[in-house]
Amino acid sequence: MSNYPMGQLPALGWNSWNTFTWDINEELIKGVADMMVEKGYLDAGYEYVVIDDCWSLKERDEQGRLVPDPQKFPNGMKAVGDYIHSKGLKFGMYSCAGTHTCAGHPGSFEHEFQDAKQFAQWGVDYLKYDYCFKPRHVIGELLYKRMSLALKNCGRDILFSACNWGEDNVYQWIRESGAHSYRSTGDIQDNWDSIKNIALSQIEKEPYTGSFCHNDMDMLVVGMHGGSNSDFIGSIGGCTDTQYKTHFALWCMMGSPLMIGCDIRNATETTRQLLQNKDLLAINQDPESRGAYRIKVEPQWFPADSAFVLAKALANGDIALGFFNFCDSNRELSLQFWDIGLPYSSGVQLSLYDCMEHKELGTFKERFAPTVPAHDCVVVRAKLVNLP
Ligand code: GAL
Repeated sequence: MSNYPMGQLPALGWNSWNTFTWDINEELIKGVADMMVEKGYLDAGYEYVVIDDCWSLKERDEQGRLVPDPQKFPNGMKAVGDYIHSKGLKFGMYSCAGTHTCAGHPGSFEHEFQDAKQFAQWGVDYLKYDYCFKPRHVIGELLYKRMSLALKNCGRDILFSACNWGEDNVYQWIRESGAHSYRSTGDIQDNWDSIKNIALSQIEKEPYTGSFCHNDMDMLVVGMHGGSNSDFIGSIGGCTDTQYKTHFALWCMMGSPLMIGCDIRNATETTRQLLQNKDLLAINQDPESRGAYRIKVEPQWFPADSAFVLAKALANGDIALGFFNFCDSNRELSLQFWDIGLPYSSGVQLSLYDCMEHKELGTFKERFAPTVPAHDCVVVRAKLVNLP
């Protein structure tokens, strides 16, 4: 459980959408909550269990309240929240800034204060807030500002996770709205192209992420292996474990919230170990939440988008370095240390720790040039040490 104030670090948890979309119910959510604890996800830092779209009936009641679907949640949402809390986890829910959610359930448009109070009564700790069916005459920015104020005044700490897919120049106004994170891209799909495209679209956006307002690159597809009941998300049939590893490393390096999207009740051991990689999670959860910047690798003839290094300054003075190879064959990716501000004349060298293999690699002067297999990555934590 995070010891930092709400929203300082990227949120970690699980979300129902990627695998289950509309097919959710109380038993599923409870089963996932059980697994979060039994399989070590909570201990690794994943604390939110988030119910996405399709939890309510299609109409509000006579008092204008949202109504949980009695087929799916026969005991109501408070009972689900109580169960999640009894496991030491936090409870996340979903609504939308427009009149309807993307799947056609009621949205919170012009019900913001009422819904925020309702969520507080149910014990909600996290609200994902979508952007479908927004009336065109209304400025979206004001809707996020309104819901943020509603949540901050509802009597309960509720983390506000905005989701307008990067539209309307969201990065320019979202921090001031009070949201703790904001989706900056369209929806992820469980395929390698989608992962690459999202990552590349966020390079050079590192000024627009940081503590209390993180750039959310969408929920993880790690470990799904094509197992979504949505044709859109699962259309091309999943990724290899190597591609999932690179996906997870990118999201960690780039400081995205990490919302697990696979069915953790059946996840493989490889998936579980990747999602619980404590060295990668420590980079994602670094207390200063600085953005990762891209360095072009040598030799210069690689297209910058096919192979690159990301560097992220960490609170204790270390630097995280991620070497990413999007090419279809091996590449030697050479980082010259002057490109992170450390020429030989600075008098320091780097002691490198491999965050995938969990072992020290030794001390390097001037450059580090791992050979990275196709679609793979190398992530190291670099410590500055004086040259002898
Ligand atoms: C999309 C959103 C997805 C999911 C879906 C639910 O707009 O980006 O993450 O929440 O709506 O209908």
